[in-house]
Amino acid sequence: AVEDRVEQLMARMSLDDKVGQMTQVDRAALTTTSDVATYRIGSVLSGGGSAPTPNTAQGWADMYDAFQRAALSTPLGIPLVYGVDAVHGHNNVHGATIFPHNIGLGATRDPELVRRIGAATAEEMTGTGVDWTFAPCLCLARDDRWGRTYESFGEVPEIPSAMTSIIDGFQGAALGGPTSVLATAKHYIGDGGTEGGVDQGDARITEQELRAVHLPPFRAAVDRGVGSVMISYSSWNGVKAHGHRYLITDLLKTELGFSGFVVSDWAGVDQLDGRRGFTGAEVAAAVNAGIDMVMVPTDYELFTGLLKAEVQAGRVPQARVDDANRRILTKKVQLGLFERPLADRSYTSSVGSAAHRELAREAVRRSQVLLRNNGVLPLGRTGRYFVAGKNADDIGNQSGGWTISWQGASGSTTPGTTILRGIRDLLGGGATVTHERYGNGVDGSYTAAIAVVGETPYAEGRGDRPGGLPLDREDAQTIARLKAAGIPVVVVLVSGRPLDIASQVSGWDAALAAWLPGTEGRGVADVLFGDHEPTGRLPVTWMAGSAQQPVNDGDGKAPLYPLGHGLGYGDRAPSGFTNGGTAVGHHRR
Ligand code: IFM
Repeated sequence: AVEDRVEQLMARMSLDDKVGQMTQVDRAALTTTSDVATYRIGSVLSGGGSAPTPNTAQGWADMYDAFQRAALSTPLGIPLVYGVDAVHGHNNVHGATIFPHNIGLGATRDPELVRRIGAATAEEMTGTGVDWTFAPCLCLARDDRWGRTYESFGEVPEIPSAMTSIIDGFQGAALGGPTSVLATAKHYIGDGGTEGGVDQGDARITEQELRAVHLPPFRAAVDRGVGSVMISYSSWNGVKAHGHRYLITDLLKTELGFSGFVVSDWAGVDQLDGRRGFTGAEVAAAVNAGIDMVMVPTDYELFTGLLKAEVQAGRVPQARVDDANRRILTKKVQLGLFERPLADRSYTSSVGSAAHRELAREAVRRSQVLLRNNGVLPLGRTGRYFVAGKNADDIGNQSGGWTISWQGASGSTTPGTTILRGIRDLLGGGATVTHERYGNGVDGSYTAAIAVVGETPYAEGRGDRPGGLPLDREDAQTIARLKAAGIPVVVVLVSGRPLDIASQVSGWDAALAAWLPGTEGRGVADVLFGDHEPTGRLPVTWMAGSAQQPVNDGDGKAPLYPLGHGLGYGDRAPSGFTNGGTAVGHHRR
């Protein structure tokens, strides 16, 4: 029946209609809402967290409905599909539940927990109308200098493959359930395997390595019925993925049997020739390679004109355009957009609900990796604690990039519990908690000090650290002040990746990797004070020094902590799903 509906639509569509369906425009680039109808736009996105005013669940639902009504006003009334980067919760929306970033979820080794997070995210999205998330990122972070390392579930294919369970959460048992949204496996392929960990760089690897390391999570995603796949900006041996017919059409669509649609990354097509601005040749190369929808995202008049001209000139076959449209329309029909095009406001109150925050807190607990402990942890519930560090009391910092805005939001006022607040709430009146960001005022009268340090938010483009990953000066000085007081010092690392701590960690009484926990900092306190055992296991190898990159390639260097490391309390090493990792082939050139 889905096929019949698609064919009936196809029979009535003009070339303009079909070109429009293949066009995705950023909301902020639309000159007027009615351009959605004029250009028959198939999809709108909020790139980089671009949010309506007010940035509330209601505000999002109103914005979504306005765009959708414009799409429905066309003669064929084909609804649009609205995409956002809901990569750790519905993270652009003020008040949403923000879950740990993928690297922390990888540490849980719990696909069912991750599935539930996908379902909760989809429910929050449903309440705002948004029907498509550009998640999960299935990259294999092979070099921690890469600024998107935290979007990786882990460095070996088994971990992201298992975590494709999040797709079942997003999409539900089948597309079309009351809260199901379209998922995107990204970025196809090799985004985490570039030379030097350079974002949008070149993965200079053999086909054997590409297939052994980077392909398995995509295969798993396709097997779960993921609805869309986003192409990587990166190149494979010098050829950009956005124009790579072998990778997109032969490998993904034909060999893996992917039947959903392929979307480009933001301006990924107009960068094909290395220069900004579309040319007809770039459009033809991308569409002929197998891209079905182009995230334009701004020059939609130019793009639609070029694509139409390329088809009319015979440089893009009509059959390719028809195939792209069938793929896109099939997902729209399956999503139930024709029956239920507008936001389902009965779910608007799900955004940031208590139940979702509780789930996030559970995920935070489970993602903590205890790196080192001389017995000081778990801390007792009475005593005098001194809490310091730039990440102790900042929801934006503990959430990282892709939170409220593209590059993250230090000092964000989005509701949540900072790690400091979590410690205070847990201890109640039974202990004294003093907080000073830099560690000023600490002295020997305290039972212990907790330094919450690490990275501040960044996202794609700005997070690469070619020079290495040392603790910054502020953190080093804060820890030094606490140490000088002669009391036990527990260091909580809030970061998107392993940092270079090798020369300092032996002087710390305990080190806990909290990754980027999101809005529910109480989950960190739950572990520090022993209400919950730390059970997280490293999803990536922890380098023994900044020079030791790439370290995530299982080639036998001795790291500070191996993949799978993670202590429990009472000297018990946790057992179970360990993914030792070195057995997974990394084929060096
Ligand atoms: O989905 C993202 C992608 O991960 C990086 N570039 C922009 C896209 C849309 O915001």
